[in-house]
Amino acid sequence: MIVSAIAAVSENQVIGRDGDLPWHLPDDMKFFQRTTMGHHVIAGRKNWESIPLKYRPLKGRPNIVVTRSLHYDAPGAAVARSLEEASGDRAKAGDEEAFPDRGGQIYRDAFSKGLVDRVYLTRVHAEIPGDTSFPVLDAAWREVWREEHPPDERHAHAFTFLLLEKMSLDERIKPGSR
Ligand SMILES: NC(=O)c1ccc[n+]([C@@H]2O[C@H](COP(=O)([O-])OP(=O)(O)OC[C@H]3O[C@@H](n4cnc5c(N)ncnc54)[C@H](OP(=O)(O)O)[C@@H]3O)[C@@H](O)[C@H]2O)c1
Repeated sequence: MIVSAIAAVSENQVIGRDGDLPWHLPDDMKFFQRTTMGHHVIAGRKNWESIPLKYRPLKGRPNIVVTRSLHYDAPGAAVARSLEEASGDRAKAGDEEAFPDRGGQIYRDAFSKGLVDRVYLTRVHAEIPGDTSFPVLDAAWREVWREEHPPDERHAHAFTFLLLEKMSLDERIKPGSR
């Protein structure tokens, strides 16, 4: 199973402010919907609670909420006590791609444990103040696709959709070996 992270990240690595997104980019939201549809999505407990009641669980996708709390109830979603437990649930369900997609702590944990194989990164071309950030990716990540989106009347910022894949150790040692 491929584990993919999906996030919109400003030039200064910000992803959130006051429990919400610090921008309104409808075409990025559509990209998120399209990319994750049919796959497991894992939300940190804070992010889950920030989704308006009428939109949660995210429809068309098995939702898993990660919390250390022993008695957490998330109607419409499964609850896991760690990312590893959530990954086990997805693997059992036979999902070929799953998304630890939601929450600053979730991203940090997933990258530091080496759980992520692929990143759908929307780079928002602006320096944005915020209180939640995305990890800085190291040289292990190779860009395999990109699409530019200019600013327009619905989007205050330009942004670029990027698909990044993790290189094997061999590929990092011998660039161009694949
Ligand atoms: N730009 C984007 O693409 C994007 C995407 C997603 C989220 N965001 C933003 O990110 C912010 C939310 O992120 P956040 O960092 O504040 O919170 P979060 O990651 O959504 O949730 C944190 C909570 O998740 C639980 N948790 C985290 N890691 C865990 C682990 N390893 N094991 C068990 N439980 C774990 C804990 O819940 P308990 O306290 O209950 O134990 C923790 O308090 C919001 O501003 C949101 O808008 C942005």
